Amino acid sequence: MKFFVDTADTADIRELAATGLLDGVTTNPTLIHKSGRKFMEVVEEICGIVDGPVSAEVVALDHETMMKEAEILRKIADNVCIKVPLTIDGLKTCKALTDEGTLVNVTLCFSANQALLAAKAGASFISPFVGRHDDNGFDGLKLIEDIRLIYDNYQFDTEILAASLRHPIHVLECAKIGADVITAPPAVIKMLSKHVLTDKGLEGFAADWAKTGQTII
Ligand code: G3P
Repeated sequence: MKFFVDTADTADIRELAATGLLDGVTTNPTLIHKSGRKFMEVVEEICGIVDGPVSAEVVALDHETMMKEAEILRKIADNVCIKVPLTIDGLKTCKALTDEGTLVNVTLCFSANQALLAAKAGASFISPFVGRHDDNGFDGLKLIEDIRLIYDNYQFDTEILAASLRHPIHVLECAKIGADVITAPPAVIKMLSKHVLTDKGLEGFAADWAKTGQTII
């Protein structure tokens, strides 16, 4: 299972990349806004930190302009993955870009039928939004399950990139279902390493070690 981090904060990306656990990065216009930085500049910096795919999203709504934006974005670095919305124009753009060998992440997916279309358009990644699906009274994890079943039925190569993950249980359930990739905010990824009994155990070992009066170094 691949781990992507969902942020445009390069300090967080550097910290996670140093663990060796990071396989890629996803950004979106909201995250770029939060970073307070120039889009092209921040994407270029991120592409230099991680070797894996870095999603950079087009903002146009029509196919022709999406293609022009993609042309500019893919020149930033070889690991840029163009993110397009799940609309007819987005799917058309996905097909044209993947036919040319460019990585494409189809985003804002909220139904298994949408995911089916993205796979048929040759998407490298499909991004179903689990948390936002839950927010609206649907079952985000069931969506991941349905897409997994459909992709397996037809051996589609499109990778399921579970997005909008809000807490460690989302990550756990996505791993059980077999999502290919998860993307989550830095805080959620760091939370995966936490357990109260790990902390308690460390405290006990430290106290007993101090009583021995020994040192290793
Ligand atoms: O990758 C999509 C993600 O950024 C959306 O997350 O928490 O804004 O729904 P959220």
